[in-house]
Amino acid sequence: MSVLQKFSLIGRTAMITGGSRGLGRAMAQALAEAGADILLVGREEASLDTAARELAQLGRWVGIAVGDVGTPEVAAEVCKEVLGIGKPIDILVNNVGGRRADIATEDFPIDEWKKLFDLNLTSALVCCQHMGKPMLERRRGSIINITSIAGPLAIKGIRGRHYETAKAALTGLTRSLAADWAERGVRVNAIAPGGFLTDPNKKWYAEKPELRATFEAHIPMGRLGEPAELGPAAVFLASDASSYITGATLVVDGGFTIW
Ligand SMILES: NC(=O)c1ccc[n+]([C@@H]2O[C@H](COP(=O)([O-])OP(=O)(O)OC[C@H]3O[C@@H](n4cnc5c(N)ncnc54)[C@H](OP(=O)(O)O)[C@@H]3O)[C@@H](O)[C@H]2O)c1
Repeated sequence: MSVLQKFSLIGRTAMITGGSRGLGRAMAQALAEAGADILLVGREEASLDTAARELAQLGRWVGIAVGDVGTPEVAAEVCKEVLGIGKPIDILVNNVGGRRADIATEDFPIDEWKKLFDLNLTSALVCCQHMGKPMLERRRGSIINITSIAGPLAIKGIRGRHYETAKAALTGLTRSLAADWAERGVRVNAIAPGGFLTDPNKKWYAEKPELRATFEAHIPMGRLGEPAELGPAAVFLASDASSYITGATLVVDGGFTIW
């Protein structure tokens, strides 16, 4: 098998949570271009349908499942629905997450903190549990958790430290699952994006223009990332090109974490 063939995802199916927009949509595009069939998850059916139609033009099978994976019971239902389709999932991208609140830690309401932990951490755990079991039975699978450079770092100029805390925990979950499942054929890795101009960052930067300036000034490459620049990293970790890699975090940040 040539090295480029190792990146091929022909014959595999990938489930991407939050696959209709933003980084999830860009990763879905890349995985489909590499040959994978695609199962998109999101809360809104209309945007899932739009993304599915666009991806189907690449000649792949594309399915959707509607649900809020930030609610653990709903995440479990979504996974059961996907398993009921009868198309084994080989690749799981746990992409749903976000800061969503800019509250000082000393004032953070615990209920909200827990909800945002469910969004950023428990959603991935539930999907790993439900989609991971059949992968373990088949002794084949690749799971990619989307963490953040805000896992090992605290981002300057914004509060909402549930985000840093949950992303650090998601990195811990990635390593632990990788250790537990390595002998059973399932690899678990993370991608830690730096700054990309998706909807949540557009909103934060509109509210806090100084946040963008401070952030960009810290990036050695001097610019935010394009969502499409994340896709190849997902293809690499999803495919046999990374067959000896598990428990790793691939940082895609224009060098932000160098300094
Ligand atoms: N953008 C960045 O610079 C950056 C940097 C570091 C890490 N990350 C991480 O990368 C991931 C994606 O970020 P993004 O900026 O692309 O986010 P985004 O734009 O908010 O992602 C939107 C996608 O997620 C879906 N979604 C949102 N909440 C959902 C929920 N509770 N259940 C199911 N689907 C949901 C949306 O569809 P619906 O609205 O229809 O549900 C849409 O498909 C996140 O985990 C984020 O923390 C992003």
